[in-house]
Amino acid sequence: MRKIVILISGGGSNMKALVQTSRSNRWAERFGAEIAAVISNKANASGLAWAASEGIATTVVDHKAFAAGRSPQEAREAFDAALAAEIHRHNPSLVLLAGFMRILTPGFVRQFEGRMLNIHPSLLPAFPGLHTHQRAIDAGCKFAGATVHGVTAELDHGPIWEQAVVPVLPGDTADTLAARVLTQEHLIYPRAVERWLAKSSA
Ligand code: GAR
Repeated sequence: MRKIVILISGGGSNMKALVQTSRSNRWAERFGAEIAAVISNKANASGLAWAASEGIATTVVDHKAFAAGRSPQEAREAFDAALAAEIHRHNPSLVLLAGFMRILTPGFVRQFEGRMLNIHPSLLPAFPGLHTHQRAIDAGCKFAGATVHGVTAELDHGPIWEQAVVPVLPGDTADTLAARVLTQEHLIYPRAVERWLAKSSA
C-alpha cells in the first residue's frame, strides 16, 4: 500500500476533506494508497485530535523546540531535519501540505520533490505568501481562488495540478472570501491527489 503523509498547522479542514474523500472514493482499492499519518508543527492544531479519532497516526514536531541556542537559519534547518526524519519513518509515496504554515528549506524540499503537493489560497502565480484574500480584495480582483501545486524550493511556485476560481463579491471581506475559497479547496485538493495517484501508478 502506498502511504500518504499530511502536514498541518491548524484546523486541518483540507486534511479532513482528503481523509474523507480517500474513504468515500476508495483510494486503497483504486490507487493502492492510504493516508498513513498526520504531522503538525503545532501541538494545539485542532486537526490532530480529529485525525487521531479517525485512527490515523499523529505526531507533533514542534518548530519552537529547535530555536534555543541556534540562529534562525540553524533552527529552521534543525526543524526541517527532524520533520524529514519523522516523515521518512512512514516511507511515504506522497506528502501533502494542508495548511502547513512553515517555509521549508531547499534541502527539505529536495528530499520530497516530485512527491509533495501544497494547497495555496490564491490563483498562483498571483499572490504567493500570506494574506492572499486581503491582497486580492485590495488589488480590485474580480476573481480569486485556490491552487494545488507541486512543491519546489521557491515558495508557492511549482507545477500547477488544479485550480478553482471564486468570484470576489461586492462587500467581501478577507474572511468571507476565505470561507468561499475554502469550500472549493476541499474539492480541488482531493481531485489533484487522485490525478497524482493515477499518474504515478500508470
Ligand atoms: C487553507 O486556506 C490553505 O489554503 C491555507 O491555509 C488554510 C488552512 O486551512 N494555506 C496556506 O496559506 C499555505 N501558505 P485548513 O487548516 O482548514 O485546511
